[in-house]
Amino acid sequence: MSGGAVPPPLRANRCAAPGFRSSILARSIVEVTRMPDQSHERQPTASVQQRVAAIEAAFDERGMKPGEFIEEFKQLAEEKWIPENGARVVAKAWTDPAFRQRLLANGRDAVGELGLSMPAHHRHLVVLENTPTLQNVICCTLCSCTAISIIGLPPDWYKDLEYRARVVRQSRTVLKEMGLDLPPEIEIRVWDTTADTRYMVLPVQPQGTLGWSEAELTKLVTRDSLIGVARL
Ligand SMILES: [Fe+2]
Repeated sequence: MSGGAVPPPLRANRCAAPGFRSSILARSIVEVTRMPDQSHERQPTASVQQRVAAIEAAFDERGMKPGEFIEEFKQLAEEKWIPENGARVVAKAWTDPAFRQRLLANGRDAVGELGLSMPAHHRHLVVLENTPTLQNVICCTLCSCTAISIIGLPPDWYKDLEYRARVVRQSRTVLKEMGLDLPPEIEIRVWDTTADTRYMVLPVQPQGTLGWSEAELTKLVTRDSLIGVARL
């Protein structure tokens, strides 16, 4: 990794969220697809539609309502968990030094001051402060974890194996390919998300914006700058 911090050791269930509904889903898949031991015939793989129907049937049998959960999740993801939340946090940090200190000390508590919440299993929000000579970048090497309620849904490239694998080892090259060509004197630190620790990047405030209102500054902050693959 070029100039980056060594990510924490990987654990098999590093990204598994305790009690999260995906574990219910996983169990259901196993139960629905389990074949009798005495049958060793090779079964054709069910289509995606068949597997979805089987999972829905398993939920129905247990009186669970995945449709409602999906609709609720979709609404949260599309309307509430948006990058503008993180942009508000950044603008506040740029204009309020005391808030900035609280944010860096305890991100989860600080974003709560702005009425923003995080899922229970996102126990820590670590805010990574960029400087003119330091660029922080976040990833999830195992899957796609982000501080979803603060910086929004992860973009497709964030979930791509190519990004997850290469940004750790070839961070400077990957950033350049994504349009951020950093000079060698700027250090790059890559942070690997875990189940209970989520990250967001605090970008450097753009020159010429001192004295701007929070609302004006909020409009400058992009999702990519919150992930660390862009500077403002
Ligand atoms: Fe993950």
